[in-house]
Amino acid sequence: MHHLTSMKKIISVVGARPNFMKVAPLHRAFLKYNDKVQHLICHTGQHYDENMSKIFFDDLELPKPDFYLGVGSGSHAEQTGRIMIEFEKILLKEKPDLVIVVGDVNSTVACTLTAAKLHIKTTHVEAGLRSFDRKMPEELNRLLTDQISDFLFVTEKSGLENLKKDGIPENKVFFVGNVMIDSLVYFLKKAESSGSLEKYAVKPSNYVLVTLHRPSNVDSKEQLDKIVNMLNSIAQKRKIIFPVHPRTNSNIEGFSLFDKIDSNVILSDPIGYLDFLNLLRNAELVITDSGGIQEETTYLGVQCITVRRSTERPITVEIGTNHLVGDDFKQAEKTAENILNGSIKRGSIPDLWDGKAAERISEIIISKLSNINS
Ligand code: UD1
Repeated sequence: MHHLTSMKKIISVVGARPNFMKVAPLHRAFLKYNDKVQHLICHTGQHYDENMSKIFFDDLELPKPDFYLGVGSGSHAEQTGRIMIEFEKILLKEKPDLVIVVGDVNSTVACTLTAAKLHIKTTHVEAGLRSFDRKMPEELNRLLTDQISDFLFVTEKSGLENLKKDGIPENKVFFVGNVMIDSLVYFLKKAESSGSLEKYAVKPSNYVLVTLHRPSNVDSKEQLDKIVNMLNSIAQKRKIIFPVHPRTNSNIEGFSLFDKIDSNVILSDPIGYLDFLNLLRNAELVITDSGGIQEETTYLGVQCITVRRSTERPITVEIGTNHLVGDDFKQAEKTAENILNGSIKRGSIPDLWDGKAAERISEIIISKLSNINS
């Protein structure tokens, strides 16, 4: 009986594509403590397309979520509000001892705020990252989530400094490494046999992989037209693989730009985790505005051009293979040309990006949990 009453309940939240690979290693790590904690997964439904969501559960060997909120798309206020309303019902019913959120999407801040107001302890995995650009929705999500989290797990040293400056007490903060890299390390071998290079008829180190989905890049016709010009120019030298995010796809269509794109640019639907990892690892060059891909390329030592004005992951530029070129696609094109002509940046792997971050996190949480609500 004593055993049962001391069992703790944790709910981890996933919502959007970049969340799934961060929760998968945590779920595996908590299974080792299944005599002490029950680890449940709540999917808010922020992303809901098969290839933005379901395929990741399969690829990452995640169980079906215990709770699905089905909130779908909407404006920021609508989406965040709907997540809060639905998540509150789950929390009232389930009364977890701890909520874990990852990353910086709308689901991250919505669920943290809901839990904190019910006096449920919260944990932010990937805390402390800052782009210092409050026009990015993710920056607001990061700032607010960190302010009200009880435990903050940090991926790179800049995170420690940022949290200190924001007045977060040091005893809440733990430098543990990067759970996204945990997934990469765990699945790299399996990804090798995904067959994705054959599928796109490309050879290792002989193609460019592109992902672009930030509102600042793809929501205006002018920017999107510049993107197409850049792609068409690079396509004269190398084959390009461009899996297109739903937001980008609807804008290319809306601005009637599909016909302008060179046939050496292979457009595809969003790609699953294993196929994508294999394409990432073997690319000669990656051009992106994603957060996580800057980290994955740094770990893999693959050249990466980030088309943004700032990065919340400065370590990838300082010691990794990331080139931050601003939101200027002419500059991106020039940098790409130099890289394809052999002028590459050598990088190294940041501290504690070793595939064991989730183990460290679960160990710390287990030790803290015994003091929670008891
Ligand atoms: C969200 C995250 C962003 C992350 C990105 C990864 C926020 C504020 N942004 O941006 O940080 O980098 O996910 O993909 O949380 N849509 C579909 N099917 C889906 C999901 C979305 O068609 O499964 C379409 C809808 O038209 C929707 C639009 O894409 O309105 C944008 O989706 P949303 O979740 O609002 O933001 P993302 O741009 O995906």
